[in-house]
Amino acid sequence: MAHDVTLIATAAMGLESIVAKEVKQLGYDVAIENGKVVFEAPVSAIPRCNLWLRSADRVKVEAGRFRAVTFDELFEATKALPWERFITEDGKFPVSGKSVKSTLYSVPDCQAIVKKAIAERLKLKYGVAGNLVETGALFKLEVAILKDEVVLTIDTSGSGLHKRGYRTGQGEAPLKETMAAALIMLTNWEPDEPLIDPFCGSGTIPIEAALIGQNIAPGFNREFASEQWKWVKKQYWEEAFEEVEDKAWYNQKLDITGSDIDHQMVDIAKENAMEAGLGDLIAWKQMQARDLSIRKPNGYLIGNPPYGQRIGDREAIASLYSDLGKVMANHPSWSVYILTAFDTFEQQYGHKPTKKRKLFNGFIQTHYYQYYGKKQ
Ligand SMILES: C[S@@+](CC[C@H](N)C(=O)[O-])C[C@H]1O[C@@H](n2cnc3c(N)ncnc32)[C@H](O)[C@@H]1O
Repeated sequence: MAHDVTLIATAAMGLESIVAKEVKQLGYDVAIENGKVVFEAPVSAIPRCNLWLRSADRVKVEAGRFRAVTFDELFEATKALPWERFITEDGKFPVSGKSVKSTLYSVPDCQAIVKKAIAERLKLKYGVAGNLVETGALFKLEVAILKDEVVLTIDTSGSGLHKRGYRTGQGEAPLKETMAAALIMLTNWEPDEPLIDPFCGSGTIPIEAALIGQNIAPGFNREFASEQWKWVKKQYWEEAFEEVEDKAWYNQKLDITGSDIDHQMVDIAKENAMEAGLGDLIAWKQMQARDLSIRKPNGYLIGNPPYGQRIGDREAIASLYSDLGKVMANHPSWSVYILTAFDTFEQQYGHKPTKKRKLFNGFIQTHYYQYYGKKQ
C-alpha cells in the first residue's frame, strides 16, 4: 500500500485506544499519542476515515513535524515544507495554534510566523507577486507546539466528526455523538442483542447503536472540508461512498429502545432518529427509569443519567441510582454500563462494577461503570 500522507485522528482524552481500534479496522497501522492516533496512509484514507470513524473528533493531515526554539527556526522549517502539495493558489489557510511547555510560548506570534512562512512559500511556487487571494477552498491549519516539538496540521474534516447531521434538537446535557459511539464500542454488544438506554435524552446512544448495528457509516449524511480539495481526488470520495453503501447491513434486525422521563426529549429523540434515516428502527418510550421492565435475557443497558450536579438534586439522583440497581439485580444476564460523575454511584447502585474507566464527558470527569452480565 502506498503511504502518501501522515494522518492524525484526534480523540477525546481516554478514547485514544477506541479510535486506534477503529483506524486499524479500516486497515491502517497506528501509533497512539496523547489525545491522538497517528498513521501513514494513502490519500484515499482521508474520505474513508472521515466517513467511518465513529469515536474520533477530527481527521487531520500532518504537514510537518520538527523542533524549534526560535522564531527563525519556526519560520525556516515551516517554509521548507511542500505546502504547494496541499494548498491551492487561491486556498484559504487560517492558522490557529497552541503551545504547551515550550520555549516558543506566544501563540499569536507563532501563528503569524507560520502564516507568513507558508504564504512566502506558496507565492514563490505559484509565481504570485502580490498577496494571495485566499478565496478558494478552506485549509484550516494548526501549529501545535509541545515541549519544543512543532506539529503542523491541516484539518480535513471541517466541522467536528460528532456533527453527524442528524441532531435537530437536543436537551440540556447531550452526549457528543463520538462519545456515545465510544461508550457502545466499549461494550461487547452484538447487533441482535437487546439494548436499552433508559436516560436517552435526545437519543444519541440508541441512534449511534443503530448506526453501529447496521454498519452505517456515521458520516454519510454530512460534508467534509477536504471534499473541496483537488488533491483528494473526487474518485476517492466516490469509491468511499460506494464502500459505505456496500458495507451497510440494512437487513440487520435490531432490538434497541430509548426511554426518558421527559416526553419532550422522547419526541426530540424520535425526530433525530428519523433525520438519521433510521425510520422506526428504534423503539421510543416515555418512562421513569425505575419502572423499567425487561422481558428478554442477555441485553445491554447503556445510559448517561443525570449526575446530580445541580443543587438539591443529589438525594433524588441517589435514590434513582439505588432503584436502578435493584431493578437490574433481577436481571443478572444483562450487562449494565453507566457513565456518571456522581461520586458515590457504586454505593447507591449497590454493586461493585466489573470494571470502571475514567472518561471526560466534555470537561466533566466521569467514570464509566461496567457490570458484565452472566449470559444465559
Ligand atoms: C444527561 S441526560 C442524557 C443525555 C442523552 N445521552 C443525550 O445525548 O441527549 C439525562 C437524561 O435523563 C433523563 N432523566 C432524569 N431523571 C430520569 C428518570 N428518573 N428516569 C428516566 N429518565 C430520567 C433526563 O430527562 C435527561 O434527558
